Amino acid sequence: AIARLVIHTEIDSTNRYLMREAARGAPCGTLCLAECQTAGRGRLGRPWISPCGSNLYLSMLWRYSAPPAALGGFSLVAGAVVADVLRRIGAEGLALKWPNDLLWGRRKLGGMLLEVAGEAQGPCALVVGVGINVGMAPDQGRVIDQPWVDLAEVLGHPRFGRNALAALVAEALIDAFERFGREGLTPFLALWAEFDAFRGEQVRLLLSDREIRGRVLGIASDGALRLDTADGEMRFHAGEVSLRRD
Ligand code: BTN
Repeated sequence: AIARLVIHTEIDSTNRYLMREAARGAPCGTLCLAECQTAGRGRLGRPWISPCGSNLYLSMLWRYSAPPAALGGFSLVAGAVVADVLRRIGAEGLALKWPNDLLWGRRKLGGMLLEVAGEAQGPCALVVGVGINVGMAPDQGRVIDQPWVDLAEVLGHPRFGRNALAALVAEALIDAFERFGREGLTPFLALWAEFDAFRGEQVRLLLSDREIRGRVLGIASDGALRLDTADGEMRFHAGEVSLRRD
């Protein structure tokens, strides 16, 4: 259930806010929403442009007794359940780029950012942030440095209520947090695969110090990306890697 709901008109980042609150003992199931973020964060240290108005900036805090290392797979779960929510409200043609970029065509509709606080051995707090472009004004979107799309365009009508969307996403995340805690990543892999944007495609994987080319074989049971490369099959974990179509 939602244990606490915090709505900010403006905040630096809903993820950062919940990481601070987690350290101060905020309960499992704390949900944070913001109208806009002044320092929205994306994966790999990138900024997430977060203008006021009509997008979704949502983060949720969940506590697990497992150590942080066990939670990496949730990044795929978050992508799969958010894509599924959007499909249920009528968005067709959505795809996920491993681990959890939400795409429509080749344009980005949203993304997820996972952060974990806790000791290596002990219980931990997982903060999952979801950003969805719902209705981006073109002048707001101009500063985004990659092709993007919003839900209004995907659905073909101007606006899907953000409150309703926030409720659906929160509900889906809660179900997923609970199920993931009991059963791990396995029950979510088939759903993720339904949205797999790159299966069978040639890609380039940008690691911090090198680039690897290969064909996407799919996702391993622990969430790793499986690539068929010149050196045979290789597996990669979502951390500091970035995937491109070759
Ligand atoms: C990405 O695709 O790089 C992930 C984007 C995640 C953005 C969301 S918006 C709500 C939450 N707060 C943040 O600062 N980031 C996430």
